[in-house]
Amino acid sequence: PRYWALIPCAGSGARAGADGPKQYQALAGRPLVAHTLAAFAATPGLAGILVVVAPGDTTLEAQGLAEAVHVADCGGASRAASVSAGLAVLHTLGAQPQDWVLVHDAARCLITPAQIQRLMAACADDAVGGLLAQPLADTLKVGAEGRVSATLERGDKWLAQTPQMFRLAPLQQALQASGPTVTDEASAIEAQGQRPRLVAPEGANFKVTYPDDFALAEAVLKARLA
Ligand code: CTP
Ligand code: MG
Repeated sequence: PRYWALIPCAGSGARAGADGPKQYQALAGRPLVAHTLAAFAATPGLAGILVVVAPGDTTLEAQGLAEAVHVADCGGASRAASVSAGLAVLHTLGAQPQDWVLVHDAARCLITPAQIQRLMAACADDAVGGLLAQPLADTLKVGAEGRVSATLERGDKWLAQTPQMFRLAPLQQALQASGPTVTDEASAIEAQGQRPRLVAPEGANFKVTYPDDFALAEAVLKARLA
């Protein structure tokens, strides 16, 4: 099977509070998503990279970022809708039902080729697939009416990241069954009774979500270059 990258890039970035979608904000001298795309372009073994943007969004072309990737402006109202639309486009690019698809958030711009390859290597012979995920560092509380109602054992808890790597046809079926509100691919696969593999990223791979995350991500990128 071949390996494809599918990058949902059609969100509005409401929580980031920037002037426009967060994926196009300047970060270390380039649009945020340029860092994401550079990591995938530098990863050996990918048959193609498809970026899903919002209908009518021509930012990637205008910024000269569309050369090494396919762009489809079929983004939907939710992340899952954008991913599902992208999976349909992968077929038109020649992807086969059993090919692997690595779905990765455009906003997760700290991803490195080494992290991507670690996931690919860990899942290549796996029947299901898997995802990058970070063992939880903080203590987990359950809240009710503004007070702690329980504290959870954290030893078995992981924060789901991306890429999330599954085979094209099972992923399409799982997302179809789960509907547009599911927040990651793994949840949809889990709902089919499967248990995706967990792979630690070994290095930062957080998603730019809130206003302070831009400065944090920029600091990590600059520290890696130093
Ligand atoms: N995404 C997408 N289509 C959507 C919503 C999100 O392609 N309808 C993409 C985003 O562009 C991002 C990734 O999915 O790269 C992860 O989503 P998130 O961090 O939630 O981004 P936004 O939805 O843009 O941000 P917010 O939820 O704060 O509005
Ligand atoms: Mg969102």
